[in-house]
Amino acid sequence: MQYGYFDDKEREYVITCPDTPAPWVNYLGSPEYGAIISNNAGGYSFAKSGANGRILRYVFNQFDEPGRYIYIRDNLSKDYWSASWQPVGKNLTRYKSECRHGMAYTKMRALYAGISSEVLYYVPLDAAHEVWAVAVRNDSDVVRELTVTGYAEFTNNPNYEQDQVNLQYSQFITRTEFENDHILQLIHGNLDAVAANGKEVDNKDVGYRLFGLAGQRVSGYCGNKESFLGRYHGYGDPQGVTTGKLDGSMNYNENACGALSAVLVLNPGETAHLAFIVGAKNREESRALMARYADPAAVCPEELAALKAHWHTRLENFQIHTPSAEMNSMINTWNAYNCFMTFTWSRAASLIYCGLRNGYGYRDTVQDIQGVIHLAPEQAAEKIRFMLSAQVDNGGGLPLVKFTHNPGHEDTPDDPSYVQETGHPAYRADDALWLFPTVYKYLAETGNLAFLDEVIPYANKGAATVYEHLQRAIDFSLEHLGPHGMPAGLYADWNDCLRLGAEGESSFVAFQLVLALRIQKQLAEEKGDAAAAEKLAKQLADFSALVEKLCWNEDRYIRGFTEKGEVIGRRTDPEANLWLNPQSWAVISGLADSEKAETILHTVQEGLNTEYGVMLMQPPYHAHAFDGALAVIYNAGVKENAGIFSQSQGWIILAEALCGHGNRAFSYYKANSPAEQNGCAEIRKLEPYCYGQFTEGKDSPHFGRSHVHWLTGTASTMMVGAVEGILGVRPDLHGLRLSPSIPAAWDGFTMEKSFRGKKLHITVQNPAHKESGFTSLMLNGAAMPDNYIPADKLAAENEIVLTM
Ligand code: NOJ
Repeated sequence: MQYGYFDDKEREYVITCPDTPAPWVNYLGSPEYGAIISNNAGGYSFAKSGANGRILRYVFNQFDEPGRYIYIRDNLSKDYWSASWQPVGKNLTRYKSECRHGMAYTKMRALYAGISSEVLYYVPLDAAHEVWAVAVRNDSDVVRELTVTGYAEFTNNPNYEQDQVNLQYSQFITRTEFENDHILQLIHGNLDAVAANGKEVDNKDVGYRLFGLAGQRVSGYCGNKESFLGRYHGYGDPQGVTTGKLDGSMNYNENACGALSAVLVLNPGETAHLAFIVGAKNREESRALMARYADPAAVCPEELAALKAHWHTRLENFQIHTPSAEMNSMINTWNAYNCFMTFTWSRAASLIYCGLRNGYGYRDTVQDIQGVIHLAPEQAAEKIRFMLSAQVDNGGGLPLVKFTHNPGHEDTPDDPSYVQETGHPAYRADDALWLFPTVYKYLAETGNLAFLDEVIPYANKGAATVYEHLQRAIDFSLEHLGPHGMPAGLYADWNDCLRLGAEGESSFVAFQLVLALRIQKQLAEEKGDAAAAEKLAKQLADFSALVEKLCWNEDRYIRGFTEKGEVIGRRTDPEANLWLNPQSWAVISGLADSEKAETILHTVQEGLNTEYGVMLMQPPYHAHAFDGALAVIYNAGVKENAGIFSQSQGWIILAEALCGHGNRAFSYYKANSPAEQNGCAEIRKLEPYCYGQFTEGKDSPHFGRSHVHWLTGTASTMMVGAVEGILGVRPDLHGLRLSPSIPAAWDGFTMEKSFRGKKLHITVQNPAHKESGFTSLMLNGAAMPDNYIPADKLAAENEIVLTM
C-alpha cells in the first residue's frame, strides 16, 4: 500500500493519503528552536532542549496528539474541518489533502466543501520561533464566511516529564494573558516582581510563550485548554470550534493553551492570508515579532525561499543520477537530510526519544558525523573537535557527553559523580575507536592534514594533538585486554546488549582495533613519524594474527568470549551461532583475506539474509543466553535479539562492495531502503523517506515492520555503504579512488561532487555489465594509469569518465 511519492525536483515527500500507518514526520528548526511535525500536524516544539525546553505538548504513546491544529468552520453550514486531515478527520471521500514534507518545512493542502487551504509550517533560518502560514481560498461560486482557528497546546512546565506527571505543581505556575493579536503564557508569572529586582527564587525565572495571529484581525481568543475543548470533547470536536466562538477565558492554574480565531469573508476565487506564530518570547519580543509578520503573504514566502536555498545548496555538494530512482531520492535528498538530523539532534528529540537523555552518546555521535562529511566537511570538523574534547585522557570516550560539556573539567566513568549523573557505570569498549574512520574520512574529504596537529583538550584534564588523541584511543584498547589478549567488551561494545565486562572479549572491537591500527600507521607514515609507524605495523601484524587465530570458526568469525571464557557465536551453538557484525567488520577492517571474505559473506547471505535486510544474528536468544547476553530480554526477532538492525546493513553493504560484489551490495541496499518500501507501507509502517533503528526479523510475527524513526546511526552507515561502497567514491589522503560496485545490469550512472573546493562531474560507464572493476579512467580528457585521481591533478571543474 502506497501513501505518497517522492517529488525529487522539489526535494519533497508528498503524502496523498493522510491515514498513514504511523505518524510520518518532519524536522523543522535548529537546536535553538526545534519542532517535529507529523503529516497530521501532530508533534511538539522546544527551545534548546527537548526535555527541558518543551513549549508545545505532545503525548507519547498516544497516536499523534496534540498538534499544531488549524480549524476551518463554515459559519453558514456550521460544518467544520481541519487544515490537516486530523484531528477532525473528515471522510476521505470528500476531504482531499496533500502533505509535503520538504527540507525543514512542511506544507499541508486540503480541499473540502469548496474551500482550499494551504498551511506552511516552518522555523525561519536562524530564528527561535515557528510560523504556520495559512492561505485560505474560496473555490466555490458563492460568498463564504469562515472562522479560522489556530490551536497550540502549551506545556505547563518546560520540563516535559514534570508537565506530564507532576500536576500538583505544574498546573499552578501557569497563566495566560491576551493582548491585541496574541496570547502570552507566563510560567512562574508570579515571580515577575522578584525578577524585576534582579533576583531568582529556587533558580527559577518567569518564562514566556507566545501564540499570535498575524495578518487578520483576531475575532476570538482563549487561553484555557478545557474551555477551548469543552468537557468531554476532544481535539476532533472542540467546543471553541463547533460553536464558532472562543469564550475569551484565560487559564489561571489548569492547562494553558493558545487559541485564536479570525473571521474571513471570501468572495468566489478570493484568498486570505494569515499566520500563527509560536515561540518563547516575552512581552516586548512578542510585540516585535508580531509586527514583523503583519503581512504574512509577503514575509513568509521570502523566509521559505531562504530556508530552501540553505538546505538545497548543502545537498548539492553530492548528487547522483543512477538507474535507481529510489536510491537517487535517498542519497540526493532524504538520506542526506536524515544524516543532518542525526548529526544535529543526536538521539534527543523524535516521537520516540523524548529528550530526557541529557547529552550525546559517544559512539552514536562520532558515527553520525560520517554521514555529513561529504556534504559539510567543516561543520563535521567542528563536531569532531567537540567529540575529541569528550575523550578522557586515558583514551576512552565518555559514554555520555553532557549537553553542558565542559572540556578539561569533566568527571569520567571512574568518578562516582559521573556514574550517578549519567547512569553510565563504566567505559564502553568501542566508543573512542569510532574516531578512526570518522577522522580519516574528514582528512580524506578535505586533505586538511594540518588537522592532525590541532591541539584539543581532553574531557577531564590535559590536551593533545588530534594525532595523539587517536593514539590514546588505541592505547585505551590495548590497556583493556581480556585473558586471550583481545579487547575486553567492558560495559558494551557497539552492541548495547552484550555485557562482556573486563574479562569477556569482543571480536567486533578487535576488528575496530585492527582498522584503528591500520589508519594510525598510515597517519604516522604521513607525518614522517617512522618509529611510530614501525611500531604500529608490528602491532597490526601481531594483533591481526591473534584475532585470526582466536576468532575464525569453520565458515565465520565468532562474536567473542564471555567472562567465563565461553565462545560466543560458534557454528555449533544452539542459539546466536552466527553474527552479522563480525563478518562485515572482518572485511571492513582488512583482516579477512579474500578467501575468508568470500566464505563469510556467503555464510551471511545463507544464514542471515531476508527480504527486508540482514538479521543481526541467528537464532535468537531464548533458553541459552549467557550471563551478559542482554538481548534475551527482547522478543525474538526484535532489536538486538535477531532483529534486522538497520545500522548494520550499511556495514554489510560496504563489506560486499569492498569485495566487488555489486549485485549483492545493491540487493542488501534495496532490501532495507525506506524508499524501496514506499509501496508496502502497511508492512514497514515507518516513513518511507527516513531510516528506522530496526526492522522486525523473521522470528517475529510482524516480520518487516520497522521502528524508531529518524534518529538512528543507520542514516550515516547507509550513506557510507552507498557512497563509498556501492558508488565507489573513496577519497584518501591525497586524492580520490573510484571503485563502484554496482548491479551488473546498470549501464552506468553519473555523479556531481564538490571535492576540496573543486567540482567533479563523474560519469561511470558500464558497457560490459560488470559488478565492479575498471578498464579506464579519463580525467579532463587525459587517461589515468588506474582508477585513482591525485588531488593535485584536479582543475576547478573536472570531467571524469570511468569505464568499468
Ligand atoms: C542503539 C544505540 O544508539 C547504538 O549506539 C547501538 O550501537 C545500538 N543500539 C546497538 O546496540
